[in-house]
Amino acid sequence: MSGSSLYEHARAQVAGLCDVVGSSPSPAVELLADLLGPAGSRPLSDPPVWPSTVADDHTPLEWSIALNRDGEPPTLRVLGEAQAGAPTSAAHLSAAHRFLGVVASRHDVALDRFDQVADLFAAPDPDGEFALWHSMVFRAGQQEPEFKIYFNPELRGIENAPNLLDDAMDRLGLEAAYDAAMRAAVRPNELGRRDRLAFFALDLHDSPSARTKVYVAQHDASAADAVRSAGAVDGIDTEAVGEFCALAAGGAGPFVGDRPLVSSYTFLQGADRPVGFSLYVPIRSHVANDAEAYERVLVLLTRYGYDTTVIERAVAAVADRPLEAGRGLIAHVSLRLGAPRPGMTVYLSSEAFGSGEPDHQRVPARGRTAA
Ligand code: TRP
Repeated sequence: MSGSSLYEHARAQVAGLCDVVGSSPSPAVELLADLLGPAGSRPLSDPPVWPSTVADDHTPLEWSIALNRDGEPPTLRVLGEAQAGAPTSAAHLSAAHRFLGVVASRHDVALDRFDQVADLFAAPDPDGEFALWHSMVFRAGQQEPEFKIYFNPELRGIENAPNLLDDAMDRLGLEAAYDAAMRAAVRPNELGRRDRLAFFALDLHDSPSARTKVYVAQHDASAADAVRSAGAVDGIDTEAVGEFCALAAGGAGPFVGDRPLVSSYTFLQGADRPVGFSLYVPIRSHVANDAEAYERVLVLLTRYGYDTTVIERAVAAVADRPLEAGRGLIAHVSLRLGAPRPGMTVYLSSEAFGSGEPDHQRVPARGRTAA
């Protein structure tokens, strides 16, 4: 792929992934061109101008394939950071707003909930790793994508994040459900320390199933912390969260010094408890290389009753190196429980700018049993 541009690299991958899930590639390809703007035409041999934290190698894009419990077909999602001409956080916040304008002019999105809170997530010089990210969801047989927006609760500083989210959830009428989630997720005295408010997300549609989501990054946490966090949601199998975590991470933790576990809560209008919970395991921190991550993902899929073919094809569509040769192509794996769509999601890096090194200190599980 050397010699190609960021846009060409991303376009080839997204077309392959659209084929895997059976959606038409043209809306995705068009949106990518708008999202990347002039940054898309830079050759990949030039380093990225902006160190996006969407992915480890600073590609401002990440793919994910969501498999759904209830027999709905798998979906392709693209997480992206709209690229700006200048390497500043403020310029990227403006670029994200501009991209949203483009999306709204071409697609059917509802911005009323976004408008209710957007002023809270504005700052002349945003702090933290990002200001505003987009997600686009492509479903088989559906010409129109769906959109989701991710705000950074820490963009006015880590210490202001709790108040900021309190205000946002108040405005959306979700304060009671939010309190219940925080009581379960946050360890005593760890808010803003080891438990961080990582993302605040809104679905940009106005059906009753439009979700609000809050993500807590739990540093040095264990599978038991994930189980406790899931306890805020009624009627889900919290023990499954612990088992999934231990299988994906190759142990029950605590995962000290690794990338954090992330717990997210789904809120729906009118419910005074969170209705859904997801656990995201940064599987790349827990494997020697992507071959090991891949095997582990296939084991998880089989165990939870999903067909493995879609993920096998998706990995083949993005990998342009042997899986043993790097680490991080398979970035996260998540389990979704409760409403509105239980399932499992696998996150794949574009690796436009390179891949993570294998961890030679770690002996892959297969190597261990062979020895
Ligand atoms: N790359 C960042 C991280 O790993 C943000 C991110 C992208 C993320 N996709 C994610 C975090 C999925 C959790 C789950 O933290």
